[in-house]
Amino acid sequence: MPTSPTAVANSLRLETTKPATRDDIRRSVARRRTFAIISHPDAGKTTVTEKLLLFGNAIKLAGTVKARKSRRHAASDWMAMEKERGISVTTSVMQFDYDGRVVNLLDTPGHEDFSEDTYRTLTAVDAALMVIDAAKGVEPRTVKLLEVCRLRDTPIVTFINKLDREVRDPIDLIDEIEDVLQIECAPVTWPIGAGRSFRGVYHLGLDRLIRYTPGVGDRVHDYAVIDGLESEAAAAWLADDYASFRDEVELLRGASHPFDREAFLEGDRSPVFFGTALGNFGVRECLDHLVQHSPPPGARDTLERPVAPCEELFSGFVFKVQANMDPRHRDRMAFLRVCSGRYRQGMRIRHVRLGRTVKVTDAVTFMAGDRVRAAEAYAGDIIGLPNHGSIRIADTFSEGEPLHFRGVPNFAPELFRRVRVRNPLRTKQLEKGLRQLAEEGAAQVFFPLERNEPVIGAVGSLQFDLVAFRLNHEYGADCLFEDAGVATVRWVSGEADAMRPFRAKYADRLALDGGGCLAYLASTRTNLALVEERAGGIGFASTREHALEA
Ligand code: G4P
Repeated sequence: MPTSPTAVANSLRLETTKPATRDDIRRSVARRRTFAIISHPDAGKTTVTEKLLLFGNAIKLAGTVKARKSRRHAASDWMAMEKERGISVTTSVMQFDYDGRVVNLLDTPGHEDFSEDTYRTLTAVDAALMVIDAAKGVEPRTVKLLEVCRLRDTPIVTFINKLDREVRDPIDLIDEIEDVLQIECAPVTWPIGAGRSFRGVYHLGLDRLIRYTPGVGDRVHDYAVIDGLESEAAAAWLADDYASFRDEVELLRGASHPFDREAFLEGDRSPVFFGTALGNFGVRECLDHLVQHSPPPGARDTLERPVAPCEELFSGFVFKVQANMDPRHRDRMAFLRVCSGRYRQGMRIRHVRLGRTVKVTDAVTFMAGDRVRAAEAYAGDIIGLPNHGSIRIADTFSEGEPLHFRGVPNFAPELFRRVRVRNPLRTKQLEKGLRQLAEEGAAQVFFPLERNEPVIGAVGSLQFDLVAFRLNHEYGADCLFEDAGVATVRWVSGEADAMRPFRAKYADRLALDGGGCLAYLASTRTNLALVEERAGGIGFASTREHALEA
């Protein structure tokens, strides 16, 4: 059995098809654009997604995504729960070609109770498209999502939606985004009117007026354009509004930030687009900008070294594990972001955590939500690996080298419940179920050092229902949930000299999480602040990187 990374890689290579050259890989990587679409529920994320898929020829007529959404409710079992509550808990991945690029679009669960999933999805993308409802402005969930994007300085493109309705003043909206989200705005298009008198947008970069016609939003439509705001045609079209609109644009150019690619790539400045997703208007300009200016896959950090996307050997990490909710089949789909090299069907790759080499024949890619067997994939692509529970979030797969990708964190949960199994003879099943659910990322689990009853941490209360449902149906552990007296959690670390007295003093508030890392369960935020102040030499972290467990 070869042991060095190169020897392992060579032995694997003999059994797979001809490896791609660096040039093949470089060309393929340069075409990739991988981004997430994020918003507060109801801002229009699904509608925008649908229009993006129309442009990518991934669907033929709008309505398909929503229809599929409801079909999924009916067919999948979460089926029961998803259906009952009318929510989608899944993150879906869609790949399509557009303008010579391969776009990987990652949708995220709309419901805030599943935001941990969303947070982790954001670790797998290179940019994000933020959809804002022009009548509502910046909403709470948008604020949280942006905080997460900021952890990795993810470039953000903003689409301000629903201009066909009575909306807020666009200048106000821009000010609010800048103030609340702390990101500079660079308007690329600017609305002409709104609601009933919404007439179109002016593209500042192209100096082009794009005229809105209602009623054609279910397909790709070429809206009429007028080149040049200073043209006679523009003056004739805008008629009485011409002078005031020119003044507005002049003011805007003077007062707003211009688009600057560097600032965008650093996550400091967001290009802003206006339109109506329902009318499929303004979305194309946004997509064009995204594929042109958002970054192709870049290098990714591992504990060992940075991994460049064009390296010849394959590597990638798992950012999400989705269970098949049918209790008779424990199979799961692990979503892996490719970080380097080329995946090809039938290749052998190493599951680094388990030190095991596996032959992958059944990985899938996701075309507009449908799964098809993946023939090949490059950095930026997402492939799904079916498995029976052996793959965890943050696991690395590679063509031999024992790498551990960084940046797939566990976020500090915000809600906590103590779990008690009704039948004490099922305690083992409870523990097994909790560990597996935690590995999947369905919720987080903490085993207190001094108590038998585990504590579950979640970001939203629906996660508890999900855990209770699955513990009962899949593990035969019918549970009671009680108040845990925990307000927040911090992962703690320090030198042995500092840790020893800390562990002794706070043993009753310490717990091991599902990955065996030590955490402090604070009863209140004030208590946390006090303990942080008093515990010299101890680090308190609000996220825990999965990779550190390895
Ligand atoms: P989400 O995924 O962010 O939750 O939002 P979604 O796209 O489902 O849109 C939420 C609601 O807003 C939907 O209406 C949708 O039709 C509407 N909407 C989206 N974009 C626009 C727009 O540009 N203009 C207008 N006027 N409405 C828009 P719904 O009544 O909740 O659902 P449906 O019955 O239309 O499907």
